[in-house]
Amino acid sequence: MILKYLGHAAFYIESNQFKALIDPFLRGNPQTKSVPGDFKELSHIFVTHGHGDHLGDTVEIARNTNAKVISNAEIINYITSKGIINVHPMHIGGRVKLAFGIVKMTPALHGSSIMEEGKIIYAGNPAGFLIEVDGIKIYHAGDTGLTMDMKLLEEEKIDLAILPIGGNFTMDIYDAARAVEFIKPKAVIPIHYDTFDIIKASPEKFRELVKNTKVIIMNPDEEYHI
Ligand code: NI
Ligand code: MN
Repeated sequence: MILKYLGHAAFYIESNQFKALIDPFLRGNPQTKSVPGDFKELSHIFVTHGHGDHLGDTVEIARNTNAKVISNAEIINYITSKGIINVHPMHIGGRVKLAFGIVKMTPALHGSSIMEEGKIIYAGNPAGFLIEVDGIKIYHAGDTGLTMDMKLLEEEKIDLAILPIGGNFTMDIYDAARAVEFIKPKAVIPIHYDTFDIIKASPEKFRELVKNTKVIIMNPDEEYHI
């Protein structure tokens, strides 16, 4: 499996038939050189919540590639209103087996709305995703504060956790290190930092705080083979 970090909270994951984007915020993302047109063949797009730095270029990429968009019911309603019909709505706590593997939506403590032409559109509850492909279980937390619910994730035996560390809108390095203690993944990738001045954080300091879990610090547009 190949994981490519596209900066902020965005990832591209490729494994056999599975070619997916998570939170494809590309245009306006100062951390990546990737643009929506780079993705010609894509099977899935996962969207954790409605904020622009996560929903990002989902509609355009879905339109270009016919990738199936997986998100909460409210975001899927919004996406379908834009003419995208290859969608899979689900909701927090829901687990589903799909052709490529298993997906579960996990709670996130955050907000979720879509701003469009000066109007606020309700986008349901924010979430994270557990995505299991080829026997590898990945947890993308989305935007969230530290929650006790994360203790429940220990039972999931997560191979790779992807956690925000930037503070202000999400967990900072200290709370993210506590989240790692709750989740006990084999490895963790810190995200959602340094994109903007308000979320500056030190991933090296985060690595020092984390015990018993491998911390993988990824530069934007860098690939990791798992
Ligand atoms: Ni957000
Ligand atoms: Mn965000």
